[in-house]
Amino acid sequence: MPKVTFIDADGTETTVAAKIGDSVMQTAMAHGIDGITAECGGAMACATCHAYVADDWADKVGPAGETEADMLDFAACEVKPTSRLSCQIVVAENLDGLIVYLPEHQV
Ligand code: FES
Repeated sequence: MPKVTFIDADGTETTVAAKIGDSVMQTAMAHGIDGITAECGGAMACATCHAYVADDWADKVGPAGETEADMLDFAACEVKPTSRLSCQIVVAENLDGLIVYLPEHQV
């Protein structure tokens, strides 16, 4: 199972095993990661699953799509070039070791 590491705004790291095909948001929810709220459950309608992909992973994960980028405008914290909605990142074998940073707050 691929591993995903979440680093919260305080710098606390949590590494969890992720199911292939799940989103990074679903992975966070399944493991009780506090920094992801996911109010809309993954429908790309809330921006409370905002995360910053680590620079080293940005190319592999890719940028936000157009609709996703529009929704990121509603994110509670600063949007950066590596910002993504974690519900739109699908875990695959090639993302084993993925690191995402969590914003200070989601609402
Ligand atoms: S969970 Fe709502 S946009 Fe990702």
